[in-house]
Order: sequence, then C-alpha cells, then structure tokens
Amino acid sequence: MSKETLIKGLNEDLAAELGTVIRYTYQAAKCYGLVAAELRELLAEEAKDEIGHAAYLMDVIQDLGGEPTTTPKAFDKPADIKGMLELDVKMEAEDVVNYLAHAKLAEELNLPDIKMKLEEMAADEAGHGRELRRLLKGL
Ligand SMILES: [Fe+2]
Ligand SMILES: [Fe+2]
Repeated sequence: MSKETLIKGLNEDLAAELGTVIRYTYQAAKCYGLVAAELRELLAEEAKDEIGHAAYLMDVIQDLGGEPTTTPKAFDKPADIKGMLELDVKMEAEDVVNYLAHAKLAEELNLPDIKMKLEEMAADEAGHGRELRRLLKGL
C-alpha cells in the first residue's frame, strides 16, 4: 500500500465533494413551493458541511505531497424532487463506502489522524443520507 494510492483515493473523494457542493446548490435553486422548502433548507445546510469536507481533503492531499483536484465529479440532474432525493441518498451512501475504504488505507499507512477524520466524515455523510431519506419518505 502506497501513499500515492491514498492520495488518488482522497482526490476522488475531493472531486465527489466539489460535485456535491455544486449539486446541492443547484438542487436548492430548483426547489419551488412549500413541499420543497424543507429540502431547500437542508441542501443549503449540507452544502456547507461538504465545503468543510472538501477543504479538509485539499489540506491533507497537499500535506501528503499530492496536487488537490479542482475538478468536480459530474452528476445527474433529475427534474423532480423525488428524483433529486433518490440521487442524493444514493451518492451519500457511496461517499460513506469510499471514506471508510480510505480510512482503512490511512490506518495501513499509519496515519491515525487521517483515519479518524475520514471515519468522522463517513458518519457526517451517513447523517446527511438519513436526513434526506426522512424527506424522501414523506413524499
Ligand atoms: Fe461530504
Ligand atoms: Fe454529504
């Protein structure tokens, strides 16, 4: 296991975070009316968490000797609220899996602080997924 593998993984996570910031901000703008008001508020709040995650990843990649990506991961644009929520729930779950895999890599490389922070971010994404699922169930 090499440091380069971890840097590559963290850069994929970073691209996902940058994409999520854009996706949530975009989706918040697409939320109209009373039904979507709660989703709009939640997306705006979660976008702030994702910016924090992206900033952490940039710092760590830089510190490990890598070059942080500035290219966001592309995402689908469902037309309706239900489609947006389903996509977001799915992508949050993917982020959890990726963070836990990369936390394991960090542990193998004897980088306990990075391991712990990645696990904490996995828990953040699981929390985002839970909130989004709660709204999805109400539709
Ligand atoms: Fe995130
Ligand atoms: Fe998230």
